[in-house]
Amino acid sequence: KGGKEQLVIDAGQKHFGTTICKSCGMIYTASNPEDEIQHLQHHHRFLEGIKYVGWKRERVVAEFWDGKIVLVLPHDPSYAIKKVEDVQELVDMELGFQQVVPMCPNKTKTFLFIDEKRVVGCLIAEPIKQAFRVLSEPSATKECSRAWRCSDVPEPAICGISRIWVFRLKRRKRIARRLVDTVRNCFMFGCFLSTNEIAFSDPTPDGKLFATKYCNT
Ligand code: ACO
Ligand code: ZN
Repeated sequence: KGGKEQLVIDAGQKHFGTTICKSCGMIYTASNPEDEIQHLQHHHRFLEGIKYVGWKRERVVAEFWDGKIVLVLPHDPSYAIKKVEDVQELVDMELGFQQVVPMCPNKTKTFLFIDEKRVVGCLIAEPIKQAFRVLSEPSATKECSRAWRCSDVPEPAICGISRIWVFRLKRRKRIARRLVDTVRNCFMFGCFLSTNEIAFSDPTPDGKLFATKYCNT
C-alpha cells in the first residue's frame, strides 16, 4: 500500500539516498528498512504481474524490432483476461485510481506492448460517443493537479483511452506512441481514426504531456 505512495512522491525527484531498482523501476530509500520491505513486496508482485509467458493463440496486431502489440478482447480465454486484470491492477495502483468500472466492459479493447517476456505497455480503449476538449493549462502550481479546465461543449468522438501506461524503465522509447497508432488502426475495422476521434480520459500530467505532443505531430 505504501509502495505506491512512494512511487508517486518520489517520481522524478532525486533525493539524497534514493535508489531506483533496475528491474521493477521502484524508487526508494535503500537505507530505510521500511522502504526496503515495501520495495521487496512491490518488486515481486510487479514482476509477476508483468510477466508474459506467451500464449498459444495471441492476437498480434503490430510488430516491431523491440517488441510486439497484442490485442485482448473481452471474450478471450481466461488466461488472457487474467493477465489484463493483473496488469490493470498495477497500472491503477501507480495512477492512484480507485476501482474504475468500464462503461461497456464487453466492448473494451486492451492493447499490451510485449518485449521479451514482459508486458511493458498497456492501453485500454473503449467506445465513446462524445468528449470534452481540454481548454487550458491548470494554474501554475507544482502540485499534480488533475483539474484541467474542460470545454462544456461535447464533441463527437469514437474511441476513449481510459488508461495508457508504460513501464517506468521503458519510457520515452515511443511505446505509448506506437500503442496509440495501433489503436487508431485497429479500433474500428477498415478505418484509421483521426486524433480528433480519440480522447484521453482524465489525463495525468505525464499523460497530458504525451497526448499534447502526440496530437500535434
Ligand atoms: N514529459 C514530457 N514529454 C513527454 C512525456 C513526459 N513525461 N512523456 C511523453 N512525452 C512526449 C515526448 O515529446 C515524447 O517524444 P520524445 O521522447 O521524442 O520527446 C512523445 O510524447 C512520445 O512519447 P512516448 O515515448 O511514446 O511515451 P512513453 O512511452 O514514455 O509513455 C506515458 C508516455 C504513457 C504517459 C508514460 O509516461 C507513463 O506510463 N506514465 C505514467 C502513467 C500515466 O500517467 N499515464 C497516463 C494516464 S492518463 C490516461 O490513462 C488516459
Ligand atoms: Zn525492484
